Amino acid sequence: MSRSLFVRQMVTYLVIILTALAILAILLSSFFQNYIMETRTAELVREGEAISQYIGYYLSGLIDTRTLHYQYQVIDRFLGVTIWVTDARGYIWSSHNSTQLDAVEWENEKLTIDEFVQVLEGNTITRVGRFGESFPVPVLTVGMPLKINDKVGGTIFLHSPIKGINRTLRDTYMSIWRSAIISTVLSIFISYFITRRITNPLIEMNMISREIATGNFKRRVKVKTRDEVGQLAMNFNAMADSLEKLELMRRSFVANVSHELKSPLTSMRGYIQGVLDHTISNEDREKYLAIALEETERMNRLINDLLDLSQIQTGQFSLDIKVLDINETIRRVLIAWEDRINEKGMDIEVDFDQEARLVEGDPDRLQQVIINLLDNAIKFTREGGLIKLKTWQYKEKVFVKVEDQGPGIPEDEIAHIWEPFYQIDKSRSRVKGGTGLGLSIVKKIIEGHGQNIWLNSEKGKGSAFIFSLRAAKKA
Ligand SMILES: Nc1ncnc2c1ncn2[C@@H]1O[C@H](COP(=O)(O)OP(=O)(O)OP(=O)(O)O)[C@@H](O)[C@H]1O
Ligand SMILES: [Mg+2]
Repeated sequence: MSRSLFVRQMVTYLVIILTALAILAILLSSFFQNYIMETRTAELVREGEAISQYIGYYLSGLIDTRTLHYQYQVIDRFLGVTIWVTDARGYIWSSHNSTQLDAVEWENEKLTIDEFVQVLEGNTITRVGRFGESFPVPVLTVGMPLKINDKVGGTIFLHSPIKGINRTLRDTYMSIWRSAIISTVLSIFISYFITRRITNPLIEMNMISREIATGNFKRRVKVKTRDEVGQLAMNFNAMADSLEKLELMRRSFVANVSHELKSPLTSMRGYIQGVLDHTISNEDREKYLAIALEETERMNRLINDLLDLSQIQTGQFSLDIKVLDINETIRRVLIAWEDRINEKGMDIEVDFDQEARLVEGDPDRLQQVIINLLDNAIKFTREGGLIKLKTWQYKEKVFVKVEDQGPGIPEDEIAHIWEPFYQIDKSRSRVKGGTGLGLSIVKKIIEGHGQNIWLNSEKGKGSAFIFSLRAAKKA
């Protein structure tokens, strides 16, 4: 797959580069060909006009034959052309040739060719070819009328061998194609590296994703660029990170659940066994059976909490949102726990800014939140401590605060206490009868309401849990 992407990419690059270069080369070649031919033709036309002028001077006696021939020679040498001057009947009157196009002596030959007629009619012509059968090799011919006293009195033909022109053209073609080949080779290298840069991380990601699928979360992609591929690699790594974390959480969750279920089961088994085989005396039976019953209740609570948590986590729980008085909920929990609070000799301070504080939420779930927070506050505060409960409204929100004077929570633990089974001092928390699920359920319930929960705490200075709720709209 990845290999074919690389090949595809390379082939695409090459096709584009080669096509562009070929088009460029063809255009440049034809441009140069035209340019060279036109320049040469223009030269021949200019020199033809000069010859015509000199012949005019000669006929009017301004220069003599020698000077005229001298001029021919100059032009002939300079341009390397064969020059014919004919009279009106077509007889070659004067021929000059320094190019050794052929050895034929042209003077006094008669021109019958069509081109001669056209020139005699006053046209200037350009031809490429052997000019009838006149030359053994192709030549560029320019023919123009020879005007004497503004009348066509003959013709001038200049023949330039194509070979010279072709050589120039060939040189030009050569340099065009040479640069085309060099740039092709260069661009093959460049596109190879560019393609590699794109496909390498993709190949790597492909391999690593296969490893992740088999359960190895350790490897990450090397991020080398900041472009889209680099961003993809970065996101891929982030995804691998969270998968790894999730997998760790899942494993520790299973381990925790098994452990939490195992210890009460073991002790229950011990007590029941003792009762059955009479290692426990008759007087003690009741006491141990009561402990076993307590353990079943603990397990029951744990399983209920786990069910709650799994329902919340899989999104299977639906909130039954109603308008309720949160102050009333708090009061009811306090009344239910009056004995427990009195037993511990604790003081409760309630600070409601209003008799009833109406909010929108699920009454049962919010009661669960209050119970969990208050349970923690009572559990972790020393005997005779003070717990403050406060509710107030700010704009569209109602805030609830549960504050205690317990041991507080160290700063580096604050982020973790919301995780399932997390307990700061495992052995001590366990003695107090918890499993570490309370706060994770609380957080999920509050988040399910679209609200937030915060914790202000410092080690040794107590803790304050504050959460928000949506205030009920006034009817
Ligand atoms: N008010 C508090 N004061 C001090 N520590 C607290 C307080 N509330 C929670 N904690 C710490 O956070 C941990 C997690 O609390 P959480 O309510 O989730 O579990 P738990 O109370 O131990 O068990 P559970 O709630 O399942 O019975 C606690 O074990 C405790 O260490
Ligand atoms: Mg708790």
